[in-house]
Amino acid sequence: MAAPVTKDQELDLRVDSLAYGGNGVARLNGFVVFVRRGLPGDTVRARVTKVKRNHAEALAVDILERGPNRVDAPCAHYPSCGGCRFQDLAYEVQLESKAAQVADALGRIGGIADAPLEEIVPAEQVFHYRNKLEYSFTATPAGATLGFHRAGRWDEVLDIERCWLTTDLGNAIRNSVRDWAREERLPAYDQADHTGYLRHLVVREGRNTGQALVQLVTAAGERFERAHFVDVLRRFPAVRAIHWSVNETPAEVTNLPTTVLWGEEAIEEELCGLRFRVRPNAFLQTNTRMAERVYELALEYAALTGKDTVYDLFCGIGTIGLVMARDALTVWGVEVSEESVACALENADLNEISNAAFFAGEVAQSLAELSDRAGSPDVVVVDPPRAGLSGKSVRRIGRLEPDRIVYVSCNPTTLAANVKELVGEWGYRLERARPLDMFPHTPHVETVALLTRI
Ligand SMILES: C[S@@+](CC[C@H](N)C(=O)[O-])C[C@H]1O[C@@H](n2cnc3c(N)ncnc32)[C@H](O)[C@@H]1O
Repeated sequence: MAAPVTKDQELDLRVDSLAYGGNGVARLNGFVVFVRRGLPGDTVRARVTKVKRNHAEALAVDILERGPNRVDAPCAHYPSCGGCRFQDLAYEVQLESKAAQVADALGRIGGIADAPLEEIVPAEQVFHYRNKLEYSFTATPAGATLGFHRAGRWDEVLDIERCWLTTDLGNAIRNSVRDWAREERLPAYDQADHTGYLRHLVVREGRNTGQALVQLVTAAGERFERAHFVDVLRRFPAVRAIHWSVNETPAEVTNLPTTVLWGEEAIEEELCGLRFRVRPNAFLQTNTRMAERVYELALEYAALTGKDTVYDLFCGIGTIGLVMARDALTVWGVEVSEESVACALENADLNEISNAAFFAGEVAQSLAELSDRAGSPDVVVVDPPRAGLSGKSVRRIGRLEPDRIVYVSCNPTTLAANVKELVGEWGYRLERARPLDMFPHTPHVETVALLTRI
């Protein structure tokens, strides 16, 4: 049957719910239309942007009737800015949608009709929750400025005066770097023709320690006076580390070697009562308070007895493993980023934890060697990136037969696919699962799940 809509057609649609990824879901005689910028309860005029056999995509161009869940977005840059998608959706409805998405993924993809889902944990702070933000420089008639990509545009950066996801300190640091760039008449890098100089600014804050790290990313060459740039940032007593990276490639990346211009190589953050050193390229969950809630839940699900061998796979700077080490016999962490592993080793020392070891390596490749060295695990904790566990990782973990697998997920669809495999092929049962909202106003949802061996 042909799709009942055509590209560029305008339709009046009522949006029923939110799909995973953040688009509204509307139905035209049963045919699903995903509506960007449509919120549950809205009636919108939407222009069709893409037509597929089973569904279409559309952009809401006019809101004909505001749904009952719409609220006023506080940020002056909303909705042009690509950082937030749902500032105008009541927070309780954001939470309900995220919980429903996890249940839906576990049912539809995971094949678990009645998933043992616990109530979603709301964010403790709905705004100002991020401990790290990456800004792009862009040219304006007044000189270079700093901001985020305009929603849906890779080639346009929006000048940001106040971001509601960072703190007053984060906003002030960014604005002072913008003023410095203008005073120094340094040109922003142009992604289209690869001219200009200033590329990115990364600001990271240890939210429980009050320590900040600033990383400037430029094109090749030293075209600024280091001492003056350092002076500008040292006006903020929280700034403990000022780093500079050069990006000579066209790729828009910030994960680059850094030169310390002033201060420390790493800053510290405190999580669950432990101190963690964080280098510029090391992974740290970007919502400190909710990371603590995730780790507490992972610890609860792990139900450690003090005699357990725990594998912390995708361990980053060792956060989960070190939080668990207090209640385990031994902890063994694996992580692909050498910079993160260096931090994990330092963090074990910093906290005087001697029963945790960390290794650099790719998870699937490292498991055989790890089990030779560490023995079979009682508990395996996995915290993979959005792509989830590869088939090979699932098989290798399955063959190790841990009693419990604690799965920390940032993507319910890949969690569900992995759960299906672990349940269907490796003799596990999904015992408990709990979504947490780490990122209000965005489509992201975390889930902690416990799988036990039957
Ligand atoms: C979601 S983060 C979790 C980090 C840590 N558990 C935490 O809570 O901070 C995922 C981590 O997996 C690492 N990683 C990605 N792919 C990997 C792989 N194939 N093998 C090992 N580590 C990997 C990333 O570098 C990143 O540090």
